[in-house]
Amino acid sequence: MNTKSILVVDDEPSMRIALSESLESCGYKVETSESGADALEKFQEDKFEVVITDMRMPGMSGMEVLRGIKKVSSRMPVIVITAYGTVNTAVEAMKEGAADFIMKPFSVGHLESLVKKVVAEKDRKGEGGSGHDSKGCLSRKKTIITRDEAMLALLELLKGVSKSKSSVLIQGESGTGKELIARYIHRHSDRAKMPFVAVNCAAIPGNLLESEMFGHEKGAFTGASRRRLGKFELAAGGTLLLDEISEMDVQLQAKLLRVIQESEVDRLGSEAPVPVDVRIIATTNVDLKKYVEEKKFRDDLYYRLNVIPVRIPPLRERRDDIVFLCEYFLEKYSQLSGTTMPALSKKVEQMLENYRWPGNVRELENVIERAVLLSGGETILPEHLYLEGEKNGQPAVKLIASKDVTLKETEKRLIFETLEKVEGNKTRASEILGISVRTIRNKLNEYGKMVEVGG
Ligand SMILES: Nc1ncnc2c1ncn2[C@@H]1O[C@H](COP(=O)(O)OP(=O)(O)OP(=O)(O)O)[C@@H](O)[C@H]1O
Ligand SMILES: [Mg+2]
Repeated sequence: MNTKSILVVDDEPSMRIALSESLESCGYKVETSESGADALEKFQEDKFEVVITDMRMPGMSGMEVLRGIKKVSSRMPVIVITAYGTVNTAVEAMKEGAADFIMKPFSVGHLESLVKKVVAEKDRKGEGGSGHDSKGCLSRKKTIITRDEAMLALLELLKGVSKSKSSVLIQGESGTGKELIARYIHRHSDRAKMPFVAVNCAAIPGNLLESEMFGHEKGAFTGASRRRLGKFELAAGGTLLLDEISEMDVQLQAKLLRVIQESEVDRLGSEAPVPVDVRIIATTNVDLKKYVEEKKFRDDLYYRLNVIPVRIPPLRERRDDIVFLCEYFLEKYSQLSGTTMPALSKKVEQMLENYRWPGNVRELENVIERAVLLSGGETILPEHLYLEGEKNGQPAVKLIASKDVTLKETEKRLIFETLEKVEGNKTRASEILGISVRTIRNKLNEYGKMVEVGG
């Protein structure tokens, strides 16, 4: 089990409490500092897994904390917290080596996934396992809340087909609950007691994805200092979730197809294949059939995966669920923050029902979480909602190039401003901008050499 902690640096007591509570509920150990000076004094490389620091603090700033930590341990991931509207500071911090940034106000879920991602990236760079690989936050039971006829029928149907080993392809917009459904299938299968392992094909750069999935032997390539099991082997007997499968490059698609057909994997650099028994669930938020037509996705793999097709309707197509989910999240977040459960004003109810919900249930959860905080337990009013932007799926920002602003520069600003609008959520930004998450990642790399990807 992992014994390292997360160091949280923030001058505001309420933020320190909120951050440690949410991280602890994920199974992390947390230490806090109320100032940069105290943090640097406490800091020891082998004691901490990640450092999370606020940017604006009296005395030593978050930037100075970042520099101080990087001096002692260049590999220590540091996540910086910035205020809404100060994306420039975030960019500066990334240039100075911050692993990522999160913008206030943010949701607990977003922070959790960011920490998990950063820890996973660090592990991949050979820091040794952390114990949070497939457990931690994700293993907390999450219930599917719905009263929509179509969804209820789908859940009923899935209960039946869960038992087979057939591959499942779950299609649905971002935030519709694809991962939740994947876990539901696993839970209802005979494999429920075996591992459920997820790989996000969009978050991991192509060259690393192969060894991430199939593993490698010691010495398979420069830097492979020890043997590493791939996710296929880690999921043995259980279920492997291939998230955002559309982003996998075509060469790797061919290898994946072989593995599925033969039920055996070749670790990189290994002589003999290893048999594996794994149930595959793939998810995508693009129309994969169209990718097949455009030759961006292999048709043979598509048919292999699409044995049990599942389509989750977007939230705007299940109007009944909007208010139903609101009530559920109102209860959840008022309980978490210890306030009474606020009511929704009539106007707010209408606004929520008529909104397009491009980010689906995830967005709704974030909106309610923030509204509960802002309303302080009183009735939720329109000004607590922040439903701006993204009307009809248009980009949330308007930018016009002029003669002294280059296309590159405009592109960069558009990406950053969109990221800011969606609080750093790269999946949503990619949908608004109409580019893949992988492209956003590459662009961010290009702009600031922010995330060191692979050797
Ligand atoms: N029906 C639901 N009931 C309760 N919570 C839900 C429901 N659907 C989604 N959620 C919540 O919304 C968030 C997003 O769900 P999930 O991660 O499963 O979506 P996704 O489709 O995989 O999104 P992405 O495409 O961005 O990966 C999660 O926090 C999940 O718990
Ligand atoms: Mg998902």
